[in-house]
Amino acid sequence: MRTQVAIIGAGPSGLLLGQLLSLAGIDNMILEQKSKDYVLSRIRAGVVEQGAVKLLEEARAAERLHREGLVHDGTEIAFQGRRRRIDFKALTGKVVTVYGQTEITRDLMDAREAIGAETVYEAADVALFDLKSDRPRVSWREGGETHELQCDYVAGCDGFHGVSRRSIPESEIAAFERVYPFGWLGVLVEKPPVSHELIYVNHDRGFALCSMRSTSRSRYYLQCRLDEHIDDWPDDKFWEELVRRLDPAAASALQTGASIEKSIAPLRSFVAEPMRYGNLFLAGDAAHIVPPTGAKGLNLAASDVHYLSHALIEKYKNGSAKDLDLYAAKALARVWKAERFSWWMTQMLHRFPESSGFDQRMQAAELDYLFSSEAAQTALAENYVGLPY
Ligand code: FAD
Ligand code: DHB
Repeated sequence: MRTQVAIIGAGPSGLLLGQLLSLAGIDNMILEQKSKDYVLSRIRAGVVEQGAVKLLEEARAAERLHREGLVHDGTEIAFQGRRRRIDFKALTGKVVTVYGQTEITRDLMDAREAIGAETVYEAADVALFDLKSDRPRVSWREGGETHELQCDYVAGCDGFHGVSRRSIPESEIAAFERVYPFGWLGVLVEKPPVSHELIYVNHDRGFALCSMRSTSRSRYYLQCRLDEHIDDWPDDKFWEELVRRLDPAAASALQTGASIEKSIAPLRSFVAEPMRYGNLFLAGDAAHIVPPTGAKGLNLAASDVHYLSHALIEKYKNGSAKDLDLYAAKALARVWKAERFSWWMTQMLHRFPESSGFDQRMQAAELDYLFSSEAAQTALAENYVGLPY
């Protein structure tokens, strides 16, 4: 078998890249280790930057997002009984759209099916070969048989635990990492949200976030310990703890119910440099992880795909590899800024188990400054709505 670009992983980055390449007439095949239903059952990100929306439009997969997505002009930050609204629209002229990653994935899968491009689901033991040659190969097992695909380029879009980054010799890649001493416990519930915008809460008992997926479905998060398990958190206990961390107005607006999904995610900052090895290009979580506080994971996957799709199109249309050679540097420049913002938001809004009195006062001063300074609010807003590509 032969294709021009072999894409590993059918998450948002692999599906978006596949769609943009197919629409430009570039042949590609996606190999995904899980089933389609499994990929669609994962509840993850919810906030989409304008740049990512524009890319989904280019991919002809934004129709439902425009119909059902919720446009948010701002967000709220709560600390010590006060709530401060950060007005994205007034401060930057830009907005974000609240639309679940699961829905984006479904829309991209539908768009891919409609143009007849090929995805292999449940591809086991994917392995990459000859990445430094101009004829890389990819093999996998499916239904007891081993298959092999020849290609010009491999796009490693297979997330943090995927095979692509691990196929790069250790001497050729450097990793930079911070692991945070807490996780996020997330609950999805079929009830209207507390407020029409998100509320990020710094509370003595730990961080909390009130988010949503629609006007009738809410998503809530609580900072939790890393050694906790979802079985330690029956629904009643989750709601009691959330109420403790909310201000009285938010607590009285909270509508609770049976959770329809509950999960714990650890928080990590991670970047692998460079995002290229020979003819293998990494994109999205395969190359970097952000703690979720800045809502940047999915959006960074989209900006990587923007740079990579343009570079591949330039190569196939005009024969120039210049943009492919610049890919890692361009993508990383934006990645590090989103890493910085996500780290800063995490630092400002969580309770760190070993923080000293000095650390706590620094955090309080940071929030007090943010609440009182339009310049500080503009800096937050500019990063939250997404830095330019
Ligand atoms: P992924 O979505 O991870 O997709 C990678 C795909 O590759 C998967 O479908 C996987 O099955 C497949 N794959 C893996 N290994 C192989 C292999 N060996 N062979 C073939 N296929 C393989 N971001 C936010 O902004 N807000 C959030 O609230 C948020 N919550 C998250 C919760 C969790 C539990 C996780 C893991 C991430 C969360 N993120 C969140 C981050 C965001 O979801 C990711 O940044 C985004 O999914 C990245 O997309 P991706 O396509 O690069 O990777
Ligand atoms: C959601 C997740 C985030 O990490 C965030 O910062 C905002 C919203 C969400 O899942 O809705």
